[in-house]
Amino acid sequence: MLINEKISLFARDALKGLTAKNKYLLPKYFYDQNGSRIFQQIMRMPQYYLTECEFNIFSEQASSIAKALVPAHGPFEIIELGPGDGLKTKILLQALTGIQQDFTYVPVDISIYALEKLSTDLEQQFKGIKINKQAGDFFQIMKDLSEQNGVQKIILFLGSNIGNFFPDEQDEFLQLLSRMTAKGDKVLIGFDQKKSPDIIIDAYDDPTGHTLDFNLNHLLRINHELDADFDISQFHHHTSYNPVTGAMKSYLVSKAEQIVTLGKLDKKIPFAKWEPIFMELSQKFNHEDIHLLAKDYGFEVSRNFSDKNNYFTDSLWIKT
Ligand code: AVJ
Repeated sequence: MLINEKISLFARDALKGLTAKNKYLLPKYFYDQNGSRIFQQIMRMPQYYLTECEFNIFSEQASSIAKALVPAHGPFEIIELGPGDGLKTKILLQALTGIQQDFTYVPVDISIYALEKLSTDLEQQFKGIKINKQAGDFFQIMKDLSEQNGVQKIILFLGSNIGNFFPDEQDEFLQLLSRMTAKGDKVLIGFDQKKSPDIIIDAYDDPTGHTLDFNLNHLLRINHELDADFDISQFHHHTSYNPVTGAMKSYLVSKAEQIVTLGKLDKKIPFAKWEPIFMELSQKFNHEDIHLLAKDYGFEVSRNFSDKNNYFTDSLWIKT
């Protein structure tokens, strides 16, 4: 690699993670076109309870959620971080039809492809809806949006995407969230709840193998984009859940001593037999955890919208 050659952020992050003492890859890179497709399959598996639970919360409590979110008067913005297929968004927007205030929907996503598809969908279903798409990294876009424009804000961060952050990222995220909101602004965050470890493990170590494919696809993406030679048959998917901390972790473990070459970066990555790559943290929370987080960053928990089993919570925070 030439010293001054510009390499993509994806390349830089892969190189950093694979040359670290404890190897890791960043979960935001799961979602190339193939990864997004596999994630859709994960969301349809009965073991992956998160999707159905949050969908039920939205469909059964849509009007309460809408009422609790919309400010008493004046225009507002709904900023959604990582809307995905927008299924829950559509339920919420449906519940907003007929309100008097003017609003703009601002979807933020790393995938331009997902944003385009969602906007087209929404424009068809909700005639005249104002959409302001923002493609890119959440953190970068949140920095840009933190310039206060005086418009009342509703920020949505659903799906327990917050669980993917390492502690330092979670801290940075909540600081940015705090900075981009003014007193009275509202935030709705999806938190997967601490629950029976068996149920959690089943969701991430499923018998259908979709989660395995999802993880292996990250290696395939590195093969395609960085001209690498990962042999995916040489990696084993391992998960662990710590019921004390609520940390659900996924790894790909090397089944053999092997050397992987990242052709584009002219770099060889040695693996010892049984050496893991830490692929993903899917943190679980309880109501006390959520309350403490909100308080630490200048918010008050106004209400928790949960499913009947309390497997999942969409927590509504108000900036104080
Ligand atoms: C999209 C981050 C919420 O951590 O549960 C699903 C991703 N990974 N199965 C999660 C995921 C493996 C998911 N989030």
